[in-house]
Amino acid sequence: MKKIGKWFYEDLPEVLSTNDSVSDLLEKIWAPCIVSAAVQTKGRGRLGRTWTESAGNLFVSFAYEIEPQRVGHYAIISALAVLRAVRAFLPHQKVQIKWPNDVLLEGKKVSGILFEKGPKNYWIMGIGINVAATPKVENPLYEITSLADFKAKTNRFEVLEKLVHEFDELEEKYLQNGFSCVKSLWLDNAYNRGKNVVIRQNEKELKGIFEGLDDNGALIVETKDGLKTILAGDVFKENNR
Ligand code: BTN
Repeated sequence: MKKIGKWFYEDLPEVLSTNDSVSDLLEKIWAPCIVSAAVQTKGRGRLGRTWTESAGNLFVSFAYEIEPQRVGHYAIISALAVLRAVRAFLPHQKVQIKWPNDVLLEGKKVSGILFEKGPKNYWIMGIGINVAATPKVENPLYEITSLADFKAKTNRFEVLEKLVHEFDELEEKYLQNGFSCVKSLWLDNAYNRGKNVVIRQNEKELKGIFEGLDDNGALIVETKDGLKTILAGDVFKENNR
């Protein structure tokens, strides 16, 4: 099996979801591993949504151990790693993170991350990056884009290699210096920070000013009833989905 740094790595021709395929690989080798696929037919998104594929895009999942108290931190680290990987190929474009871990390219979603609990202390981090094409999604919740829309000259393998490199580097920084260092990198690149936002969680809606992140990576919003900590949901700019 191939390796990228410390990670065992497999690229498969077609899968339902790389999150499931990496779990299968994990149960064989019990070591940090990555699975990507050329075609993913049943990609899952956050909050029960689906993730639509387009040929040439990156569908990849990482399986690795995380101590329970660090899970929120890794959600922040993973978004930063994607941000840096995208920026590496489009250094002149605006690339930002929308809480919790969507990456936006010129304000449109280019990547999403789905964290799922794996066996033992393992977590599965599934990342989709629109590299070669913008998928056709009916009634998308957000506008979407791809690296190709901005004429980036790259492919899913190069983006993956950069992503792994950035993730490993950020993790090292985090393990050496603690969460505050990655948190401030995240905040420097956050979309809508200090602005009026609406947070939608199922049927519920909460309005306030996006203040920052707490020490677990949760969102802090100043509402008319005081500061609230948000663990899950979608953030929109007020008056503009
Ligand atoms: C989201 O924005 O809702 C998260 C999308 C995550 C999509 C990726 S593609 C690779 C991995 N496999 C899946 O089934 N989902 C993730």
